[in-house]
Order: sequence, then structure tokens, then C-alpha cells
Amino acid sequence: MKIGIFGGSFDPVHLGHIAAARSVKQELGLDKLFMVVAADAPHKHGANLPGNIRLRMLETALEGEDGIIASDAELKRGGKSYTLDTVSAFAKQYRGAELYFIVGGDMLESFPSWREPKGILEKAVLTAVSRPDTVRDMRAIADSIMAQFGGRVSVSGFTGPDISSTEVRRRMFEAEPVRGMVPLSCEFYMYRNALYMPEKLRRIRLKLRQRLKRKRLDHTMMTVLEAVRLAAAYGVDAQKARLAALLHDCIKLPNKEIIDFCDEKGIELTDEERESPYLIHSRVGSLLAKDEFGVTDEEVLSAIRLHTLGCVGMTPLDMVVYVADKIEPSREYDGLDEIRSAAYRDLAEAMLMVMRHSAEYTLKSGRCLNPATGEVMRWLEGEIGSPRFAAINANQP
Ligand SMILES: [Fe+2]
Ligand SMILES: [Fe+2]
Repeated sequence: MKIGIFGGSFDPVHLGHIAAARSVKQELGLDKLFMVVAADAPHKHGANLPGNIRLRMLETALEGEDGIIASDAELKRGGKSYTLDTVSAFAKQYRGAELYFIVGGDMLESFPSWREPKGILEKAVLTAVSRPDTVRDMRAIADSIMAQFGGRVSVSGFTGPDISSTEVRRRMFEAEPVRGMVPLSCEFYMYRNALYMPEKLRRIRLKLRQRLKRKRLDHTMMTVLEAVRLAAAYGVDAQKARLAALLHDCIKLPNKEIIDFCDEKGIELTDEERESPYLIHSRVGSLLAKDEFGVTDEEVLSAIRLHTLGCVGMTPLDMVVYVADKIEPSREYDGLDEIRSAAYRDLAEAMLMVMRHSAEYTLKSGRCLNPATGEVMRWLEGEIGSPRFAAINANQP
């Protein structure tokens, strides 16, 4: 039996890791490859997230993967984790198996300074996964390690994508899309939990968690994800879009509860709002975003306020939030695919499609259309094809 052990911080795991794992598993003919989440790697600093969260992301990413398994071996052991301990634990569990310890090419150089390199090499073949442009250097380093400590050191040629966890974290922080860098399931997980986002946003999410039902919170975080993607496609300020998306449903409560909430807080409601309470949460949401969450940016407040009815002359930022809310990845309804592809082509067209769709739904359920709706729809019709609402970067997910 051939067993691979691929250690790393996986903070977060990205598609480069997954591709390397697949490639090395095939190349070495491994029966199983364990991706071991480092608890506290003595030779590598800067793991930002707790091990259990990094493990959860890795598990999510490896669902459906054949023979590649997320391992908590180091996390369970706790304390400082040394490769020798990890390799020994696997050697004990899989007696008689041929072990391969897999490291990134950048780690190979520091190998001689690890604890007991000789001991590691007695138990496992050290395999460096390196990109083709660095293969020659790697081979030289591998040879010098073998000369110094004995054992076997191999270098795997790997042609997968060049992605770094640092870059993924930076993008999550700055509100730039991470599509194509991490597995989709992992992207959803990061957004659902506001991972790597600025502290201020993480605190808002925690507050929302106390108020909103789980499903509503998930919808909110998926709207954040979609808003970031759309903002990039239209050159809209993504940090504003993200903040507005995060707060767009900050007071989305069942009808009676939201009316009680407003009465309690002394927030006046119009007759129209009392009759159609679903209209309340966008206007009151924008009030709360200001008073309770300290948002002062009028553009952000406007996007929150307009996400239910829209208005004539709304901005691309308003529309990004409006559309993100209706097409985020957890939404499901007939015609959604067409709207999604329009959303990454022309905002006015996508928004009009959404409005038509919800108008149909409103009429079917026996309610009247809001009087403002027709006017907004006519305005949007005239704006289709306008450069102001055309995607500058058609990267439809
Ligand atoms: Fe809403
Ligand atoms: Fe929403």
C-alpha cells in the first residue's frame, strides 16, 4: 500500500493544492493521500484561522474526491506539531505501507532545519511538488538532502495553477472575487462565515446572526458573494457593494414582527407599508444601517433602501445590490439561469428581467403591483444597452 501525507496550513485550501494533490497521487500511484492540516507548524508562520475552520474548509473542498482525505491528525495531537510525529503516526497506523511525505517546493529548502530530518527520511520518501520552472533547482536541493541525510527525496513535476493562499486572503479582505482560485464549496464557506473579511464586517455578521434566521443569514452572505462578483464585472466600488449587500436584509423579519419592531422603535410607517409589510425592510433597513451599524456612506444606504422597489435613475451600485439579492447562488426559480447570464452582460437588462419575474409572481399571488414598478420598468427598458450598465469584464460564474 502506498500512502501520501501532504501537510499544509491550508489557510485556505485553494485549487493549486487540490491540483497538486491529484497530480502527485496519480504520479506516485498512491492508494490514499491524506491532506494534513497543520496545527502550528514550527517552520511556517502566519496561519490566520483556527485549525478546526481550516479543516472544515478542506473537508468541504475534498467532498467527492477519490482517495484524497482531509486529516486532523496534527490538530488532534495538539501543541507544536512536527513532521516526524505525523509521519510516525501514519507509519504506525499503516504498518508495512510505503509512505510519501509531500511538501511544497518552497518548503524543501528549509527541510534540513526541520526537527530530525534523518528520522523523517527513514520513514518516508520526501516528495517536493514544484512548478516546472523551478524543477531543476529542486532536484539539486533534493540531491543535497539525500547526500546529507540519506533516504529518498523525489521531485514531482506539476503543471497546475499558481495560486497562493495569501492572495486568496488578500482578495477576500479587499472584496475582490476569488472565483477560480478556490473550490466553489470553499468559496461559499468563506463567504457564509465572512472569513478573512475586515473585522468590522465580521462584527456586523455576528450581530445579524442574533437577529436573522439561519436561512436569511445564509442568503445575506451569498448576496455579499454575488455583489462582490458583480461589482468586479461592472467596475463598481466592491467594498460599498459588499457592505450594502451585508446589510440589505438587516431587518428582514416576518410581517407582524417588523411592524411591531417599528412601532416599538417609534419608526413611522406609511399606509402602503402597513398593507404591504415586505416593503418596510428596505427603507427601515437603511435607517438601521445608519443608526445601528454606523454606516454613513449615502451610496451604501441608497443601495439598501432601493433593493426592493428600485427607482428611476438608480446607480450601477444600487443595481448591483438589487440584482445580487435576486440571483445569489442559493436562489432557485424558473428562468434564473437566463437572468444570471444577463446579469454579467447588462445590469439594466438583468434588473428588468428580475422585475418582470417578480411582477408575474405578485400578480399570480393575487396582489397588486406597486405603482412605482411600471415606471421603473419603462426606464430600464430605455437603459438596456447603455454603456453605463454594460459589463466591463464579462466573467460570468
Ligand atoms: Fe430584502
Ligand atoms: Fe435579500
